[in-house]
Amino acid sequence: MLAGSPENFGATLAGASETSDDGWRKRLRTLPAWVALEAEGSLTLDSALGTATYCPPDSDGPYPMLISMYVRPAARGRGVGEVLIEAVVDHARAQGHVRLVLDVRESNIAGRRLYARAGFRAADASLGVPEDGCEVRMSRELRADVDLP
Ligand SMILES: CC(C)(COP(=O)(O)OP(=O)(O)OC[C@H]1O[C@@H](n2cnc3c(N)ncnc32)[C@H](O)[C@@H]1OP(=O)(O)O)[C@@H](O)C(=O)NCCC(=O)NCCS
Repeated sequence: MLAGSPENFGATLAGASETSDDGWRKRLRTLPAWVALEAEGSLTLDSALGTATYCPPDSDGPYPMLISMYVRPAARGRGVGEVLIEAVVDHARAQGHVRLVLDVRESNIAGRRLYARAGFRAADASLGVPEDGCEVRMSRELRADVDLP
């Protein structure tokens, strides 16, 4: 992911390589991640088509975030990204949240098209601003029956 599309992520491969096994275990415990597989597929590093991660709200903001979205180049254009987004959306809803936000590089046309198709819209500054100045924040409402500011 960081090796294949470094231009689309704030994190770097060098930084990730310095994370200890314990650090990765802790991340997996606190940040649930989904991996897309071919139907009937079993989970190996080679069989994974893509992944997305849910980050719960923290001191940075009241809404959960969709992070670390990646689809292998050979699996792109087949709707894998959309399936992953809906898995994270379902989880956020099940946790009782009314909005899901994400940050995407302004230059990431494929990502922005995917998110727009999945119902994300440009967020205004009241939802916070990305740490990375090259990114834009997008937001999707999760409940039609709740009026959000
Ligand atoms: C962004 C990304 C997750 C989209 O995943 P996907 O499963 O291909 O999503 P979609 O099938 O809905 O395609 C989304 C857009 O990707 C582009 N696309 C379509 N087929 C493609 C292909 N074979 N190769 C590259 N891009 C393609 C198109 O712009 C498409 O939008 P459009 O159909 O409206 O023209 C994927 O391209 C990716 O992993 N990119 C690198 C990492 C990244 O940018 N992650 C997001 C960080 S915020």
